[in-house]
Amino acid sequence: MTLTVAAAAPAFSRLPSSSPLSAEERDAILAEPGFGRHFTDHMVAIDWTEDAGWHDARVQPYGPLQMDPASAVLHYAQEIFEGLKAYRHADGSVWTFRPDMNARRFQRSARRLALPELPVEDFLASLSEIVAADAAWIPTGGEHSLYLRPFMIANETFLGVRPACRAAYFVIASPAGPYFSGGVTPVSIWLSTEFSRAGRGGTGAAKCGGNYAASLLPQEEAAANGCSQVLFLDAESGRHVDELGGMNVFFVMGDRLVTPATSGSILEGVTRDSVIQLARDRGLVVQERDFTLDEWRDGVESGRITEVFACGTAAVITPIAQVKGPDFAFGEADAPAGEVTMSLRQELTDIQYGRAEDRHGWLYRLDS
Ligand code: COI
Repeated sequence: MTLTVAAAAPAFSRLPSSSPLSAEERDAILAEPGFGRHFTDHMVAIDWTEDAGWHDARVQPYGPLQMDPASAVLHYAQEIFEGLKAYRHADGSVWTFRPDMNARRFQRSARRLALPELPVEDFLASLSEIVAADAAWIPTGGEHSLYLRPFMIANETFLGVRPACRAAYFVIASPAGPYFSGGVTPVSIWLSTEFSRAGRGGTGAAKCGGNYAASLLPQEEAAANGCSQVLFLDAESGRHVDELGGMNVFFVMGDRLVTPATSGSILEGVTRDSVIQLARDRGLVVQERDFTLDEWRDGVESGRITEVFACGTAAVITPIAQVKGPDFAFGEADAPAGEVTMSLRQELTDIQYGRAEDRHGWLYRLDS
């Protein structure tokens, strides 16, 4: 079964790049893409104004945006984004994973940031367009993919603080290997005791650049302490685990999986939702609930917590070996990856790369 969405795709005009990278240069990048460092030859753009709505959908050469310095996004951070991957299957076909969830989350993020909502079918069509333009950029090796980054900015030239009446939507694409430079090895994470990511009524559930900007200083602290990611607690009590800088978190306790509930301050991750489903399919009990740092410490000490992992589109599923803070550490930095973590990871990627049956109809074909 494959995902079907009634699509009345907008007509995209297409202006091919006059200076695409040569096949040799592209192949050199695809052999070792890293994450987020290289970009394809084209991008998608759609404009929006209060009067005309969404219009002028187009594929154009990848390149710098011309913006007025007074554009609202540059001053008040009225911006949202998404992250998905395009996977090339063994038969050459190109697919993405649950893009309807990204499309709807993009709409929820837009609402929260007072930006216009892009129709789901336009979002889906924009993914097909970028893949059609830059199909040669989709890596074939290992667990490589083409990372798709849809985003929207407020580009009205106006310094008053109110929702902009002009916006622009774009999709750029970047060939991607593992998010963490060490590949799929257990990472240590740093508990931020000083900073929060989101508060009640804030923008924590929206995928907006501002949330990520706020995570950068604590992320720097994490790196200075030898950790790959920062972990945030809830802003109100400072006791409950919230999420990492750019990923959700899961705890494995025997045949039980616990993940913080999406209380309005946590991003409703597509990978998070898929892990919950795959775990339930295996008969594991999944609890979405408050999880305190004390429960984490006690669980590690008593051996009740057998594995911890992070998940997100970019990081897929990444084992967490240890959590560290200014004066504590639980878990061992050199702990091996857990069995449940790695088998869920295998199952998820097998579905994404077409090696296992897509029993939930999560795949969406981009190249037909
Ligand atoms: C993703 O997982 O796609 C994200 O947007 C998170 C970011 C840290 C790359």
